[in-house]
Amino acid sequence: MTVFRFKNGDELPAVGLGTWKSATDEVGNAVKEAIKVGYRHIDCAPAYGNEKEIGQAFAECFEQGLVKRSDLVIASKLWNDSHEPEHVLPALEQTLKDLRLEYLDIYLMHWPVALPKGTVFPTGPEDMVPLADCPISSTWKQMEAAVKKGLVRHIGVSNFSVKKVKELLADSEIQPEVNQIERHPYLQRKDLLSFCHANQILVTGYSALGSVDRPAMLKGVDEPVLLQDPEILKLAEQHNATPAQVLLKWNIQNGVNVIPKSTRTERLKQNLAAASALELSKQDMAKIASMDQNRKYLDGSFWCMEGSPYTLENLWDE
Ligand code: A2P
Repeated sequence: MTVFRFKNGDELPAVGLGTWKSATDEVGNAVKEAIKVGYRHIDCAPAYGNEKEIGQAFAECFEQGLVKRSDLVIASKLWNDSHEPEHVLPALEQTLKDLRLEYLDIYLMHWPVALPKGTVFPTGPEDMVPLADCPISSTWKQMEAAVKKGLVRHIGVSNFSVKKVKELLADSEIQPEVNQIERHPYLQRKDLLSFCHANQILVTGYSALGSVDRPAMLKGVDEPVLLQDPEILKLAEQHNATPAQVLLKWNIQNGVNVIPKSTRTERLKQNLAAASALELSKQDMAKIASMDQNRKYLDGSFWCMEGSPYTLENLWDE
């Protein structure tokens, strides 16, 4: 299995399983199937609303001897309503309880956005807490405390810009080791990628297949469907691979690990095999490099309603 490595040598498999949008009645089976076919990295978050079901699946896998805890790389994320320092460790403890684990391999701040405790999703600007009132650096101290307590092996962030990562690097005792960002041929983020890699921060790409199954409220009009892009289809045919495998391998060849979500065994196998099923040539990579549109499928506009302290400009620092 192709792996990337943390600074201390710990492995991060190139292909993991994403669980965002996996329904509660399907996710347990998807996790068990994934582990059976060889996945060793599972990406979770309390915001996905399915950690209890995933915890049940882990427990069954361990009980049946399918895998040992130490063989898995399990990630979860701190939701935005728990950024106040006193809420960080309790939120982590809840996730550990739901996932039925004693520690996480990776714990990420889900967004550089704060919400009041108990708010899963904001309904208006009154639900938004400005970063000035709840600074990332004070949340981060508690992320560091989680490492010191042995509850978490590696800490990191998600949806952070170069500017925000830079600020965190300058103000942290334990540096972020992961930045999980949306990444695919329509959103290549070359500067962010090279900045992270230059600072020994692993980049995990989410929505690497274009997240066609995300809720309608998160979709724009007339969005191009990545899995149906003619160039991707052409490359898939040339390599006797599937379009999904081309998309995943492109990220992996760029040094990015991927966490495609699926609940179907055939696709789980296909996605896991992407790392070894094909090799994109220099010309293929150049072709895909020319497809960048700086297009975010998940642009964070749901944090930026009128009256919110967050805007698309200050969220992405673009
Ligand atoms: P399903 O769960 O029914 O397999 P992303 O990881 O970018 O969010 O994409 C997830 C979406 O892509 C889901 O709709 C998932 O559907 C679909 N998907 C996952 N793997 C494949 C694949 N190999 N081929 C086509 N679609 C896939």
